[in-house]
Amino acid sequence: MVILDGKKTSNDLKDEIAIAVAKRRSEGKKIPHLAAILVGTDGASMTYVNSKVKSCEKVGFNSTLIDLPEDTTEDQLLNEIDDLNKDNDIDGFIVQLPLPKQIDEQKVLMAVDPNKDVDGFHPVNVGKMTLDLPTFLPATPYGIMELLKRYKVETSGKNVVVIGRSHIVGRPMSILLSQKRDVGNATVTLVHSRTKNLEEITKEADIIVAALGKAEFLTGDMVKDGVTIIDVGITRVKDDSKKRGYRLAGDVDFESVSKKAGFITPVPGGVGPMTIAMLLKNTLLACENRD
Ligand code: GUN
Repeated sequence: MVILDGKKTSNDLKDEIAIAVAKRRSEGKKIPHLAAILVGTDGASMTYVNSKVKSCEKVGFNSTLIDLPEDTTEDQLLNEIDDLNKDNDIDGFIVQLPLPKQIDEQKVLMAVDPNKDVDGFHPVNVGKMTLDLPTFLPATPYGIMELLKRYKVETSGKNVVVIGRSHIVGRPMSILLSQKRDVGNATVTLVHSRTKNLEEITKEADIIVAALGKAEFLTGDMVKDGVTIIDVGITRVKDDSKKRGYRLAGDVDFESVSKKAGFITPVPGGVGPMTIAMLLKNTLLACENRD
C-alpha cells in the first residue's frame, strides 16, 4: 500500500511556484496577488482561508483577506466583488463557501470576473472545463489529477467511481477523468444519495473518489483489492480525548480500506493541501494571462 502524500506533493508544487514567482520578480514582472473573501466565522472556513493566505506568503505572492461579518447582505458582498473585479492589482480571488443563508451563492459566483475566477466556479469557466477548453480548473479536482499524475496512477481505461455530485468536487471530477487527457480516459460512474446497489458499484472500481461529506462512509467490505482511494472528506467529529475537542475524519474508513488499497490518500495530509497548491497555480496562471 502506497500513501498518496498530498502534503509532500503540495510542497513540491509550492516550491515550483515559488521559483516561477522569483523569476517574475527578477524580470520586473508583476507579483501574483490573490484575494479571499470570508463571510462569517465558520470554524472550518476560517481555517481554510487562513491557510490559503499563509500559503501565498510561502510562495512569494501578495495576498489580501477580506473578512466580512455573518450578517453581510448580498448587495454588500456583490459590491466587494465588484471592487475586486476592478482592482488592477488583484489577479484572482475566491469567495469562500459556504455562504450565510441570506446570500444567494449562484448570484455571487456569477458576479466574479471569469478572468479572476481562480476557483473555476463561474458558469463560463465550468462550461469551458466541460468542453475541454483552457480555463481555471476547480482546485480540488485539479489537485486530485495532479496527485494521480505525480504518483503515476494509471487512469486510462480504468473503472472510476466518484461518490458525490457536488458542483465543487464530484461533478467536475467525473467530467475531467472521462475526458481525453493525460490523467483521464477513464470509464466514470458517478454515484450519489439516490444510487441503488452502491456497494456493487464500488466493488468493481479501480479508483474511488469519495466526496460525499459523510465521515468514514466507505469501508473495507465495499472495495476490491488493489483499489486506489482518493478521500476528499474532512469532517470534524467530536472527540473528547483531543485537546481541541474534535478529530478530522475523511469519507473513508482508513483502518479497513487501507488494508485492501494499492494507493490511498490520508486525512489530513492528502487532498486538502493539494487543493491549496492548485489554487496558487491558478493564481499564477491568472497573473501570467495578464502579462
Ligand atoms: N469551500 C470548500 N471548498 C472550497 C473551495 O475549493 N473554494 C471555495 N471558495 N470555497 C470552498
